[in-house]
Formats: sequence, structure tokens, C-alpha cells
Amino acid sequence: MATTIETKGNALTYETIEAEAGLKAALAMSRADLVDFVRDSDLKGRGGAGFPTGMKWGFCAAEKADQKYIICNADEGEPGTFKDRVILTRFADLVFEGMTIGGRAIGASLGIIYLRAEYTYLRPHLNEVIQARRGAGLLGHNILGVEGFDFDILVAMGAGAYVCGEETALIESLEGFRGEPRNRPPFPVVAGLLNNPTVVNNVETLASVAAIFAKGTDWFKTFGTDKSTGYKLFSISGDCEKPGVYEFPWGITLASLLEEVGGTGAKAVQIGGASGVCVPARDFTRALAFEDIPTGGSVMVIGADRDILDVAENFLDFFVEESCGQCTPCRLGNVQMLEAVKLLKKGECPPEFLAAVKDLGGTMQVASKCGLGQTSPSAFLSILEGFDDEIANRAPSA
Ligand SMILES: Cc1cc2nc3c(=O)[nH]c(=O)nc-3n(C[C@H](O)[C@H](O)[C@H](O)COP(=O)(O)O)c2cc1C
Ligand code: SF4
Repeated sequence: MATTIETKGNALTYETIEAEAGLKAALAMSRADLVDFVRDSDLKGRGGAGFPTGMKWGFCAAEKADQKYIICNADEGEPGTFKDRVILTRFADLVFEGMTIGGRAIGASLGIIYLRAEYTYLRPHLNEVIQARRGAGLLGHNILGVEGFDFDILVAMGAGAYVCGEETALIESLEGFRGEPRNRPPFPVVAGLLNNPTVVNNVETLASVAAIFAKGTDWFKTFGTDKSTGYKLFSISGDCEKPGVYEFPWGITLASLLEEVGGTGAKAVQIGGASGVCVPARDFTRALAFEDIPTGGSVMVIGADRDILDVAENFLDFFVEESCGQCTPCRLGNVQMLEAVKLLKKGECPPEFLAAVKDLGGTMQVASKCGLGQTSPSAFLSILEGFDDEIANRAPSA
């Protein structure tokens, strides 16, 4: 049975979306118009990278193939992220509606939801919702009476690896191989699952698609900023009085967010999970938005009493464990960074080693094969920059 998770603060916009209004509106449009509609909303992917959804769908729609797929990425493995769990628990119909609209737009007849192993308890709930949708003519053959529009959805399980949230590793895992990222190009929109054109979208992106079709692009653009349209769910954890899942429009400043969640007085906030950046208190006027601090939605509040190096150590420990080991910068770089943090904590890190590790971080960002190694140095590098005084005090005594 699915667990109900309370959301905090303001009510969620998803609660106001009429069931199937989006799908009905989409079925009244041509396929090309569906892609243009999403483009017009300026929806950017909610999985972290912020890639424009309409552009991704447009690339896949343009491919000629007998079979295409749309995959819902429900791996949600980024530390500190739990908003997709809320959406899957409370608004699974909206996610499946978004997938169905996506299937229509790109010409896919099968959708797959890739569910993280830790959410196995949600599997029966998702299968029940899918079954109910089949019964209601919302999945299967000739959906809602539209001749020739066939689309169905399956649930597939992950096995607990963080890297399998990366879209090409996810596809490898779905094909039954080790979850290791592929070289790109070709991108999944050209050659994805079983070499067929494939769109991979985050859970929240797909729920947003259903809302946009139900209420329109102008409505969607009333939320957020010019460059970051819409609203967003944030998973808020750590040293605050009211952790939980909150909805805010893009553009909210960190100071306002901390006010809402009872986290004023924090020393820093880690945005975007372990692979994100650590923002010190002096920058709390900055905003959560693609044009300022982009994020998939994880916000970890770091209280005044925390040792910032404990934070860096915790994240790097995670990356050493989760690196798939395929490429050298990531496999060895995370180990070196962790070593530097451990030495700093003991007051034994030689300055030349710290300088070399900073350089190494830059190399990892450009030379790693996938997003894991490209982003794993970010937290430590931002801590070195944002907390230089505190770190300088940990240098070895002469
Ligand atoms: C190591 C790693 C883990 C990732 N984990 C997730 C995840 O759990 N969920 C997700 O939606 N995207 C994750 N991503 C991003 C996906 O590769 C992909 O960009 C995303 O699913 C695209 O969806 P969107 O365009 O709707 O955001 C991850 C990326 C990397 C590099
Ligand atoms: S960057 Fe890390 S996780 Fe990605 S392919 Fe290389 S070793 Fe594997």
C-alpha cells in the first residue's frame, strides 16, 4: 500500500489539475503541435540538468523508426531528493498522463517507468493505477477513441545504484546489462533503448506536462521567472524546523526559502544534492532558478554548528562508493578528493596537495565520461571557495 507523505507549506498546484483534461486537450492537437506546445511553455527538465523538454521531444519526434520509447526516470537517487516519491504516491495519474501525451508527441507506443529499488513498495500502487487507466481506455488500443493511438506503460525496477539515474546507464540497466553510462553521442533521442529513439524524462517533468496541457502555456508562465517558467517541488532536509516537500515558484531566494522552512541561522545550504553546490550564508540573496542556482530540487540546510568538512567528506564518501569505475578521472579523482578532506580535518593537508586536488577537480569536471564524475567535485570545490577562512585554519601548522 502506498504511504501518504504530507507536504508542507503551500498547497500543491498538482492538486488543482483536473484528471485527463491535459490528455483530452492534447488529443485535439496534431502531433507537431504537441511538441510546439511544450516548447512554448519553456518547460525545462526537472531531473537536474534543465534540458528544454520541447526540444528533447522535437529531436525524438524527428527520428524515423518503427519503435520509439518514452521512459520516466523514477530513480530519484540524488542524496536529499524525495519529491518524486511524493508525486508518484499522490499524483501517479498525472505522470502517466504526461507519458501518454509524450508517447503521442514522439510516436512511441510504449512507456516504461524505471523505479528505484528503494521504492519497491510503490510498485503495486503504480501497477494498480496503470491497470485502472487501461480499464478506463486511457492506455491500450485506440486511446479515448482515437483510432490508431496505442500506448501502454510498464514498471521496471532499478537495483539500487545511483549511477543508474543517469539516462544512458538507466537504459543499459533496462536492457539487462551493468548500469554503466554510454558514450554520447549518439544521444538516447536518436539511439536509446534497444537502439531505438528514446525520450527520458524525470517524474516531475512528466507531471508538469499534464498540468501544462490541462491549463495552458500562458498559465504555466505566470509562475517563475522569464528564464525559469513554472513552479517546482523542493525536497528540504537537514537543520531546519520544518523539513519536507514544498512547492515554490522558480526564482525564490534562499533567504525566503529558509524563512518558510524554519532554517534561518543556517551556515550554508547544499543545493542540488551531493552533486550540487554549497552556498554560504553570505549568498542567501541568490535565487533558485536556471539563470542563478539551477537544481533538481534538493535543498539541504547546514546548521551553524556543523563542520563544513564533515559535509564534504560525507558527499565524497558517497561518490567513491557510487562511481561505476569506468573512467579514470572519476574512479581515482573522488578517492584523491576524499583523501584531501580527511587530511584537512586532521590539519595535515599539505598546501601543494590541496592545490593539486583543486586542479584535479577541474579536470574531472571536463574529462569524466558522465555527469556523476563531472559534478562530484562541485560540492568540495564550492566549499573550498565559500569557506576559505575556515579551511585556512585547518592548514598544517608550520
Ligand atoms: C549520476 C546521475 C544520476 C541521475 N539521477 C537522476 C534521477 O534519479 N532522476 C532523474 O530524473 N534524472 C537523473 N539524472 C539525470 C538524467 O540523466 C536525465 O538528464 C534526466 O532524467 C532527464 O530528464 P528531464 O529532462 O526531464 O530532467 C541523473 C544524472 C546523473 C549523471
Ligand atoms: S564519470 Fe564516474 S560514474 Fe560516470 S562513467 Fe566515469 S566512472 Fe562511471
